[in-house]
Amino acid sequence: MTKVLTGNWGKKDSHLLATYEAGGGYSALKKVMGGLSPAQVIDEVKASGVRGRGGAGFPAGMKWSFVPQNTGKPIYLCINADESEPGTCKDRQILEFDPHMLIEGAIICAYAIRAKIAFFYIRGEFDLPYRRMVKAVEEAFAAGYLGKNILGSGFDLDFLIHKGAGAYICGEETGLISSVEGGRGEPKVKPPFPAVKGAFGCPTIINNVETLATVPWIINNGGAAYKQFGTEKSPGTKLISVSGRVKRPGNYEVPLGYPLQKLLLEDCGGMQDGYELKAIIPGGSSVPVMPAEKALTVNLDYESVAAAGSLLGSGGMIIIDHTQKMPELLEILAHFYSHESCGQCTPCREGTGWAHRVLKKICHGEGTKADLDLLLSIAGQMSGATICFLADSLVMPIRSFLTHFRAEFEALIKAEVPA
Ligand SMILES: Cc1cc2nc3c(=O)[nH]c(=O)nc-3n(C[C@H](O)[C@H](O)[C@H](O)COP(=O)(O)O)c2cc1C
Ligand code: SF4
Repeated sequence: MTKVLTGNWGKKDSHLLATYEAGGGYSALKKVMGGLSPAQVIDEVKASGVRGRGGAGFPAGMKWSFVPQNTGKPIYLCINADESEPGTCKDRQILEFDPHMLIEGAIICAYAIRAKIAFFYIRGEFDLPYRRMVKAVEEAFAAGYLGKNILGSGFDLDFLIHKGAGAYICGEETGLISSVEGGRGEPKVKPPFPAVKGAFGCPTIINNVETLATVPWIINNGGAAYKQFGTEKSPGTKLISVSGRVKRPGNYEVPLGYPLQKLLLEDCGGMQDGYELKAIIPGGSSVPVMPAEKALTVNLDYESVAAAGSLLGSGGMIIIDHTQKMPELLEILAHFYSHESCGQCTPCREGTGWAHRVLKKICHGEGTKADLDLLLSIAGQMSGATICFLADSLVMPIRSFLTHFRAEFEALIKAEVPA
C-alpha cells in the first residue's frame, strides 16, 4: 500500500535534508508558496478529512478554520511532541526517521493559519528525537524553508524548540500552552478553546506530530487522494504502536479500518510462543481494555473501536498476555495517573491517589469486596468532574477492567470474617 508517513523509514540517513529532498521533500511547501492561498490550503486539508492523531480525532482542517483572523493579535502554532501516553511510541519515530516531513507540514499549517511563530514542544526524555529535530530545524533555516521570506513568498516563520521536563500533563493542549508560557503545566478550563484564546491569550493551533506530518502528502496528492485510504468517517492511514508479547512489535502504518486481527496475526506474526492473547488496550493506556475475543473482531478506525466499547485514541496498542495479572496492571495505571495528576482538581488529585491505594491493598491480598464497589464509586466521582481528561483516563480503565475481569479482582479478596 502507499505509505503516507513511513515511506522514508529505513532509508539511509532518512533524517537528513538531502535525503528528504532527494525523495521529493519540500515539494508541497514549494507548491503552496508558488500560489496557494491560506484558504486553499485549509480547504485541501478539510477535503482530506484527516483527523487529529493525538487522541481526540478532531478534524484538522476544521480546527484550522476556527482561527479568527481579525483580532490584531499574533497567531501561534504549537506542535505537540510530548508523546507520553503509555503504549504510544509513534511520534518519536517520525522525529527520528523523518523530521523534515513534520517541519514541512508545520510550515504549511503555519502559513494556512497565518502564524509567524511555531512552538515545537518535545517530551523531555526524548534524546535522539530531540537531537535530530534540532539538526533538521537548523538545516531548514539554512535552506530558506524557515525564517524570513520563505522561498521568496514574503511569509516569515520562526520555529522555537521547547523541551518539556518530564510531565505527562504537558501533552494536554492547555497544559502544554501553560508550559510554553513559562508556567507550571496546568491545564485550563475550555472554552475558550486554544484556537480562539491560546498561548499568551492569542489564537493558537495545537496539533500532534503525526497529524502535521500527513500534510505534505495531502498537499502533494490532494485531499481526495488521501480519502481513498481508510473509511468514510475515518479517512487516511494511521500509525499503530504495537507493544507486548507479539513476535514483531513496533510501529505499523495501516489504512484506517484495517482489521485488528490481521495486524496482530499477520503483520506482527501473532503471539510469541508460549503466550496466549488475553486482552488488548487499543489506543494508549487511557482507553477501555477489551477482552481478546472482542478485540479480535474490531477494525482499526475511530467508529468501529468505539462501537466495540473502547477508543482508537493515540493508536498505542498494548497486547496483554495470559501471564499478566489484570489487578496488577490496573494498579500500575492508577499509580501512573496519580503521579501525573497536576493536582488542580480535587476529584483527580484525591481520586487517582485513592484508587491507587485501594488497588495496592487489593493486590496485596488485603482488599475486601466493598473495595471493588469503592473503586467504582471513586471512578464515578472523578468522571466528567475535572478541568481536563486525565481523571477520565483512569476512570475508563477502572470501569473496563472491573467489567471484563472482575473475577481476577475477586480472587484476590481476602475471605470476609463472618460477623
Ligand atoms: C492527559 C492528556 C495527555 C495528552 N498527551 C498528548 C500527547 O502527548 N501528545 C498529543 O499529541 N496529544 C496529547 N493529548 C491530546 C491533546 O490535548 C490535543 O488533543 C492534541 O495535541 C491535539 O492535536 P491533534 O488534533 O492533532 O490530535 C493529551 C490529552 C490529555 C487529556
Ligand atoms: S483533571 Fe487532573 S491533571 Fe487535569 S487539570 Fe484536573 S487535576 Fe490537573
